[in-house]
Amino acid sequence: MAEVIIVKNQDEAGALYAKSVADLIERKPFAVLGLATGSTPLVAYEHLALEVRDRGLDVSHVRGFALDEYAGLPVEHPESYRSVITRTVVEPLGLDPKHVHVPNGALETIATAGADYDRAIEEAGGIDVQILGVGTDGHIGFNEPGSSLASGTRIKTLTQQTRVDNARFFDGDMNQVPTHCITQGIGTIMKARHLVLLAFGENKADAVAASVEGGVSAMCPASALQLHPHATFIVDEAAASKLKLADYYRWVYENKPAWQGI
Ligand code: F6R
Repeated sequence: MAEVIIVKNQDEAGALYAKSVADLIERKPFAVLGLATGSTPLVAYEHLALEVRDRGLDVSHVRGFALDEYAGLPVEHPESYRSVITRTVVEPLGLDPKHVHVPNGALETIATAGADYDRAIEEAGGIDVQILGVGTDGHIGFNEPGSSLASGTRIKTLTQQTRVDNARFFDGDMNQVPTHCITQGIGTIMKARHLVLLAFGENKADAVAASVEGGVSAMCPASALQLHPHATFIVDEAAASKLKLADYYRWVYENKPAWQGI
């Protein structure tokens, strides 16, 4: 079973992620971080930037791989995931931009870009810790319901719901949200050594309950995390509100030896 940590607020979640990743970078200066976009991970990146500063960590060798990118959106577009990762991760943490990769959404090379990306992750030694958000429909990366649990990085078609959800980044106009993307597959994500999924707010409660306590199914991509040997869900009270075993998860976490970390 995945570990479920129910936190008071987003700051507590961000701090847990940041401490774990900062410890990793201390142990392993060439750490490989899996990066997500969207609103959920922002607090985690903010806390990580503080840890890096306060501990004086050398991050010059840290590598990063983003989960996904829109297809056909110029990388210079402010909402391309390349731009978002640069703004929210590379610059605040002081990472070397040449060590941070985002899937190539250019239409001319999209047919081979997925396999190239998975190869690049392998050549870097695999992802040490992958941060994830979850869609209201249970998607991770841009693996919408129905995605193969064994999938590699590839082109996908966004659901209309995801385009509606993401319209807030495009002046509220869903017609500006691309219809296609390139995303790490669920099989790719599952190869990361540690998965940390963050979810906040009531609108994520159904997705969290289905992911943690529902059946493992392609209909809920995040349910694949149940099969991962080291997966951690960090959720606030609202996102945890539909979990049947919430009290048990609290009890387990309260009694967890500190040395285990997350
Ligand atoms: C983004 C990504 C998506 C988001 C998900 C939740 O790289 O992979 O799966 O994590 O759509 O988005 P937010 O965090 O904006 O609710």
